[in-house]
Amino acid sequence: MNEEYKVTPWDVTGKVDYNKLIQDFGTEPIDDKLLERWKRITGSIPMAMQRKIFFSHRDLNWLLDRYEQGEKFVLYTGRGPSGHTHLGHLLPWIFTKYLQDTFDAPLYFQMTDDEKFLNKDGLGMKDALGFTYDNTLDVIALGFDPKKTRIFSDVEYSKTLYRISLEVAKRVTFSTAKAVFGFDNSTNIGMIFITSMQSAPAFLPSVEARKNVPVLIPQAIDQDPHFRITRDVAPKMGYYKPAAIHCTFLPGLAGSDKMSASKPESAVYTTDDPKVAHKKILSAFTGGRVSVEEQKKMGGVPGVCAVFQYYYYLFEEDSQKLSQREQKCTRGEIMCGECKQELADRVVRFLEKHQENREKAKDKVQDFIVSDYSALYDRLKKPQDKKEVSKYKKAMKEYYSTKEGENILIGKTKELEDK
Ligand code: TYM
Repeated sequence: MNEEYKVTPWDVTGKVDYNKLIQDFGTEPIDDKLLERWKRITGSIPMAMQRKIFFSHRDLNWLLDRYEQGEKFVLYTGRGPSGHTHLGHLLPWIFTKYLQDTFDAPLYFQMTDDEKFLNKDGLGMKDALGFTYDNTLDVIALGFDPKKTRIFSDVEYSKTLYRISLEVAKRVTFSTAKAVFGFDNSTNIGMIFITSMQSAPAFLPSVEARKNVPVLIPQAIDQDPHFRITRDVAPKMGYYKPAAIHCTFLPGLAGSDKMSASKPESAVYTTDDPKVAHKKILSAFTGGRVSVEEQKKMGGVPGVCAVFQYYYYLFEEDSQKLSQREQKCTRGEIMCGECKQELADRVVRFLEKHQENREKAKDKVQDFIVSDYSALYDRLKKPQDKKEVSKYKKAMKEYYSTKEGENILIGKTKELEDK
C-alpha cells in the first residue's frame, strides 16, 4: 500500500491515488467499453459514472450478462451508525436509489450497529441503536421504494444473519482477517467476527430464494476489503460471488481527505441547521489566490478546491455548466466568494428538502425496517399462536426499554400490546 495514503474500512487518510488503489485492491476500472454497455442496457449513463465518481468494480460484466439473460439481481449496501449521516454517505445511497429505479431491484440495507458498538470508544449500545434509527430516516428520505427495500440493524436481525455469518466465519482464518484489516493483539475479539456479519446480507437473498441470486454491492472503495473476503468464501459456500461497484470519496470541506465524522467542521451533516451548513461552506478550502487582483490575473485551481469538488460530486448535474464554472475559475473570471455563496445556497436548499423528507420518514419507518421481532410478530399474528403473545409481549417490552429501541419497533410493539 502506498505510504502517502491509507484506505481501510475504518480509516481513510491522505490523498488517495485511485488508479493505484485499483491495482492494490485488485478491482477493475469502469472503462469506456463498460460505460457503452451500460448505456445500451439502460438507455443512459448516470452522472456519477460519466464523471468517474463510480470508477471501479468487481464482476459488473458478469452481473450484466446475467441480467441480460433475464436473471434479476438484488442490491445490498449499508451504514455503520456511529453518528449522524454526512453528505459523503449519501453519495453511494443516491446511486443505489438510481440502481433500484433503473433495474427494478430489491435493496437490502444493513446497519452495522454491532460493528460501531465494538469499534468506537464511548459509543454505547443505546447510542448505536439510536443512530440506526436516525440514519434510517436519511435512507428513507432519499425515496427508496418501501415495497422493495428492507433496512435492518445487525443487533436486531442477528437471528436471521447469524447462521450465514457462522458459515462465513468458519471459512475465514484469523491470519486472513489480520492481513486484510490489520488487526493486532489489542483488537477486541468482536471485531474479528464483524466481517462475517457484513458478508451475510450478500448471501441472504440466495438463502431466502433457495437458489443463487446475483447481488450488486454499491459502496465507496473503503468497504472493498470486507467483500474480498465475502467473494473468497462465496464459492466454498455454493453461492455466486457478489458483484461490486465502488465510488471515490467526497472530500471534506478542508480539502483532500475524505469527508469524515471525526472532523465535524469539515463535514456537512444531513441534520445540520442549514444556517450552520451555510457557514461551513463559506469557510471551505478553495486554494484561491491571496488577493482578488491575483485571482483575476492567475485564476483559481479547481483541482485542489473543495468547493469545486462539491459541485462536481453532488451540486451541479449539468456537465456543461460544470465545465463553464471550471473555465471561469481558471481564467480568473469568478471569485471564490461568489462560488462558495452559490454552493452554500444549493446546499441549504438540499438540506431543507432532505430534512422535510426526514420528518416524513418518521411515519414510514415501519414500512422499511425488518427485525427478528417483526418476523416473530408475523408468526404471532396467526390465531394458533395467540397463547405466545403475552410471553413475547413481556420480552419485547424489556428488550425495547430504550427510547431508540421503542422507536424502531414502535408500530409493531403497539399493535401487539393492543391485542
Ligand atoms: P460507513 O457508515 O462508514 O459508510 C456508509 C457508506 O458511505 C460510504 N462513504 C463515503 N462515500 C463517499 N464519500 C465519503 N466521504 C464517504 N464516507 C463513507 C462508505 O463506503 C459506505 O458505502 N460497515 C459499513 C456499513 C456497511 C456497508 C455494507 C457499506 C454494511 N454493509 C455494504 C457498503 C456496503 C460502514 O461502516 O459504512
